[in-house]
Amino acid sequence: MINRRTVLHAGLVGGLLAAAGGTPALGKPGGGGGGGAGTTGNLLQTPPVLTDGTLRAARTSINLGGRTGSALTYNGFLPGPTIVARPGETRTLTVTNALDEPTTVHWHGLVVPTAVDGQPHEAFGPGASFTYALPVQQRASLNFYHPHPHARTAAQVALGLQGAFIIRDAEEDRLNLPAGAYEVPLVLRDANVDKAGALTYNGRASGFLGSVPLVNGTLDPYLPVDKAVYRLRVVNAANSRVFRIAFADGRDMTLIGTDGGLLGSAVRLNEITLGNAERMDLLVDLRGSDYPTQPLSLLDLDSGWTLLRLTPKPQPVSVAFAGLPSTLPAVTPLSSPVRSRTFSFDGMTAINGVRYDMRTIAFQVPRGQVERWTFVANGNPPHPVHIHGASFQLVERRGGRGRLYAWEGGWKDSFLLLDKESVDILIRFDIPGRYLIHCHKLEHEDAGMMLNFEVTEGVSSTMASGVTGAQD
Ligand code: C2O
Ligand code: CU
Repeated sequence: MINRRTVLHAGLVGGLLAAAGGTPALGKPGGGGGGGAGTTGNLLQTPPVLTDGTLRAARTSINLGGRTGSALTYNGFLPGPTIVARPGETRTLTVTNALDEPTTVHWHGLVVPTAVDGQPHEAFGPGASFTYALPVQQRASLNFYHPHPHARTAAQVALGLQGAFIIRDAEEDRLNLPAGAYEVPLVLRDANVDKAGALTYNGRASGFLGSVPLVNGTLDPYLPVDKAVYRLRVVNAANSRVFRIAFADGRDMTLIGTDGGLLGSAVRLNEITLGNAERMDLLVDLRGSDYPTQPLSLLDLDSGWTLLRLTPKPQPVSVAFAGLPSTLPAVTPLSSPVRSRTFSFDGMTAINGVRYDMRTIAFQVPRGQVERWTFVANGNPPHPVHIHGASFQLVERRGGRGRLYAWEGGWKDSFLLLDKESVDILIRFDIPGRYLIHCHKLEHEDAGMMLNFEVTEGVSSTMASGVTGAQD
């Protein structure tokens, strides 16, 4: 699928390596600027950063660019405010439910205790509030938050409830990556928008495919760009749609991170398939001769949509970038699994033949031990698999393509399970408690393609049928 893959080794960092004598001049805002005469569409919106600890889920009016309608929002923003946190802090967030049905908030990608993981059994009703005290203990990464009430997740997300959650840390700070106007979150989704400009939802168990793309809640967005390296922080926040992103001119992007933060080494590629809930941290070089003279489209190759246009400014600023260091912070590989399990994603409603029941713990996993989990799709692929409670590493794809994709390195919490393939991961849980494994095609999740499991303090003695727990 990708035409080119180059792992950048020390000394071969190509176009993004430090230019001789270059000094970092990052975070200097390029200013909003116009899109230049003749630019159509709407200026790409960026959600505000949450400055306090309160989120209110409610139906509010929104402006998608051009049209004023309504959606379900956090604090009136689509997507909701971006939460920024650093390891070591406990981020306390009080969510008020001003909807007309129960909701919860799950902090997707954060590894936190069960009580604040926002699982379906913790849903709270209209008029109620829930305070989540999130101990942030992980490395820099782009995560996101969204509702997780049983059987209502898909509708609430499709109608607008979601937002980005960024963790920053000292390790990342030292890299002097593009910041300020040059670090752009891109929350990708599709949507149905009615004539009045309201988001609507008509998903069924097989999924939901909206008729238009929305990037950061903006219809037909453009972003005026400078001669700079841009850091695009992309999340596929769509219910069901898989995006296959590439620039219209086929130019390379440099992948520096995935779900769980930075990769051990950057990867150059010109096309990335992004399953639901997957995240990509991308550098795109728009300096010098790489500066676009025409609007440069970021495409979804599968739908043929233009997701975003990067438009040249009449007077672009040239911004230096000191370059990537020859090595990025190492990702220590998990190894030596002591146990293996197999999960069959069956049809649209079950895992290993079992349909989700909020009250049932399907299996137990002792904490602190590396396990090898194998996933197979048994109908209705692709299934974007997601696991709560730990990050993991993909180690193998068998059948089908037969190898991992170039964008599947590093720490992951979500991946695409394709037809006639099996995928192996290595995973280790460190926090005891109840967690979830599910399909992140939200309609499959709501239909029951989800299981509870329990991370125990010690080696477990019981395993539910349907889950192989080869003990040794
Ligand atoms: Cu983003 Cu359990 O989900
Ligand atoms: Cu699925």
